[in-house]
Amino acid sequence: MNIEKIRKDFPILEREVHPGKKLVYLDNAATSQKPNQVIDVISEFYRNNNANIHRGVHKLSEESTEMYDDAHTKVSKFINADKMEEMIFTRNTSESINLVMHSLVDGKLKKGDEIISTVMEHHSNIVPWTILKDKGIKVNFVDINEKDGILKLEQFEELINKNTKLVTCIHGSNVLGTINPVKEIGKIAHDNDAFFLVDGAQSVPHMKVDVKKMDCDFFAFSGHKMLAPTGIGALYGKEEILENISPFMYGGDMIKEVSLEKSSWNDLPWKFEAGTSNISGGIGLGAAVDYLESVGMDDIRDHEIKLTEYALNRLEEVDGLKLFGPKDMKIRGGVVSFVLNKVHPHDVASIMDTEGVAVRSGHHCAQPLIERLGENSTTRASFYLYNTKEEVDKLIEGIEKVKKTFRL
Ligand SMILES: Cc1ncc(COP(=O)(O)O)c(C=O)c1O
Repeated sequence: MNIEKIRKDFPILEREVHPGKKLVYLDNAATSQKPNQVIDVISEFYRNNNANIHRGVHKLSEESTEMYDDAHTKVSKFINADKMEEMIFTRNTSESINLVMHSLVDGKLKKGDEIISTVMEHHSNIVPWTILKDKGIKVNFVDINEKDGILKLEQFEELINKNTKLVTCIHGSNVLGTINPVKEIGKIAHDNDAFFLVDGAQSVPHMKVDVKKMDCDFFAFSGHKMLAPTGIGALYGKEEILENISPFMYGGDMIKEVSLEKSSWNDLPWKFEAGTSNISGGIGLGAAVDYLESVGMDDIRDHEIKLTEYALNRLEEVDGLKLFGPKDMKIRGGVVSFVLNKVHPHDVASIMDTEGVAVRSGHHCAQPLIERLGENSTTRASFYLYNTKEEVDKLIEGIEKVKKTFRL
């Protein structure tokens, strides 16, 4: 991987965020930056092809339809789905998970049923399930091993029973970096006739994902964390399941025939894409996938492993700094959360910002996990394909500045 060449594709990385302070962007778990190749495709689309899809017979409508549909094919191949019918475009991971929840509630989940999730989840894979308490559906949570932040796998076996209809977990943790053994967890779900949903928001952008090998029923992710624009996300679902669950939203484009009495549903995946879609966003997501594939997902993963190992080694040397998550890079992504003595993470992040270093502080939309770790918040650095060792050094320099400011 030629990082210098890659960096030239991302115009924002040239920015000075404060006088004399060039941007060091280490907030990739929140959202990634966008390369010219994605920005240009979107702007070209609006300059040349813009029209609504799946309805017009004129040239522009045909072109935009083809571009949008092709993006579904690209994204489905990217995660090794069998066909584009299994690839629904949504707004983001949150909407994808909400889609699964609403569709299952309409006919597949009933009072007395149970769901298994984990304490490691992002709020977007907790809240849609815990609100089902009102419908008499219970959610059980698998705990983590505090020392290294990995799931207590045996608890999936202990918690599962004949009432369990869904097992769900995060693939890569946005706080601990932990990469969960989804294949094993999915097997436990399927051995017990439960659906298996994976939150892939932090895995798809950073490693090769194979939904067939994983054997998940649903897989949710966001475009904006993988070089694509905001407002476009995806849900993979097995075809036979998607055929047999209800749509989440109703209206235009998701129907086959409508009368004043009843309606029938469009073919997959359009059955789940009501109304005018985020057409340019979908095309942008296709361009992002092209870009990631041209670099190579295995190389991206290797690069992030090296950067994360380097960061962890350097951070371990900082007095008074506590790190979270596993040390074994085979089960860890490029996310590093830490707390520094008693300094509030917002202060850490604000001082870092004066040096141009963008990190996230707070609960990272994972309040139950942060609480389980015995903290109120953490500071988080998260890496991507364009980050360098020199930027990790800047992170360490920023921490030294925090220590100096607080006379630690
Ligand atoms: C693991 C994980 N799941 C879900 C989400 C929610 O993604 P979005 O805000 O794009 O819906 C995030 C975002 O940070 C995440 O990290």
